[in-house]
Amino acid sequence: MHDGEDCNCVLTNGLIQYLDMRWLKVMLLRERLIRQGCSVITHSRLQSSGAGSAPNTSFVTPSPPPGPLQVNSCIQFWKQVFSQHKIPEPEASSEYIVAHVLGAKTIQSLENKQLSDPLTTSQMQYVWELCTRRLQRVPVQYVIGEWDFRHLTLKMKPPVFIPRPETEELVVLVEEDLLSREKAVISVGPLREITFLEVGCGSGAICLSLLHLLPRINAIAVDKSAEAINLTRENADRLGLSDRLNLLQMDILLDSQQLVRECGAVDFIISNPPYVFSEDMNELEPEILQYEDLQALDGGEHGLEVIQQILTIGRQILKKNGKIFLEVEPRHPAMLQMLISQGCYSGIVYKDTKRDFCERPRFCILQKTFEEV
Ligand SMILES: C[S@@+](CC[C@H](N)C(=O)[O-])C[C@H]1O[C@@H](n2cnc3c(N)ncnc32)[C@H](O)[C@@H]1O
Repeated sequence: MHDGEDCNCVLTNGLIQYLDMRWLKVMLLRERLIRQGCSVITHSRLQSSGAGSAPNTSFVTPSPPPGPLQVNSCIQFWKQVFSQHKIPEPEASSEYIVAHVLGAKTIQSLENKQLSDPLTTSQMQYVWELCTRRLQRVPVQYVIGEWDFRHLTLKMKPPVFIPRPETEELVVLVEEDLLSREKAVISVGPLREITFLEVGCGSGAICLSLLHLLPRINAIAVDKSAEAINLTRENADRLGLSDRLNLLQMDILLDSQQLVRECGAVDFIISNPPYVFSEDMNELEPEILQYEDLQALDGGEHGLEVIQQILTIGRQILKKNGKIFLEVEPRHPAMLQMLISQGCYSGIVYKDTKRDFCERPRFCILQKTFEEV
């Protein structure tokens, strides 16, 4: 067996195992989200039951109850306080914060002994400090300063967009596509290097999870926000992925020709762009409106401003048969199919619509079918 073939097999086996695991994870996530009516700690951008309710800013941080406080009692205490103040997902908020203070990701990962031990004075102070921020409706991801996306833990800093669980499904679509492509080339020799473009990298969730999984893939990631570019760089450095990532701070609505020049030809484009219709922006949760960058969300009158620019850029930089994977609002798949059928982006075909774990049409796959001149 040649080196290249060997490498392909290792990569493929790893991917297959990984995809098996991801089904389990997606199913668990799906079940949890459906139970919660798709309104999760990650506060979906789509309208949810608590959308638009004004934050309660008039509160006094409660004093701790007298005497030593065990972990479980502390979680219950803050769950009640959050409920009284109508903080969404009071139990999960309380659990994430207490687990973080104890150096864990989840309460479930703590040993029974840790759960029954009383918190130390400094742990109590830290819990009170973080929970007070949550009372101010700061998203729990900003409160604890990190969040998991797929198999990575990423630093989170306001106002950079917090990755949502549905975006993990977008990444899985690409992984599956690459896996099927890899199976197709395995018989004819080593897999060539793949380069992709991510538009709007935010914290780096999408591009870094793909770089992490696929050791021979290269990424170009663009974002107009300096905070986003800096956070993606910090996360890439921490994860040792910087050498395969080219970061560009650019507004694709203004600097598209510069982007086309700097990018060269790419194998695929992936994006979770701003796609909320401008008129729906004030329906979003207070957590989002107060703390996240609204430019990461507002997609213009029909939510399509950045999406349409991605299609225009895709026509210029995609290699033949290169795909565009987009996360969108549920009204967008039909709108995009209409635009494509009207010939607005000749050479780009609409391939497929995929649904998210709440069965909403949320992902569009398009493909370039002609060679560039
Ligand atoms: C919805 S967030 C997605 C962030 C990240 N990819 C994720 O899924 O967590 C959209 C990102 O696009 C960026 N963005 C918005 N308009 C842009 C534009 N015209 N050019 C480049 N980036 C843009 C925002 O700054 C934001 O980071």
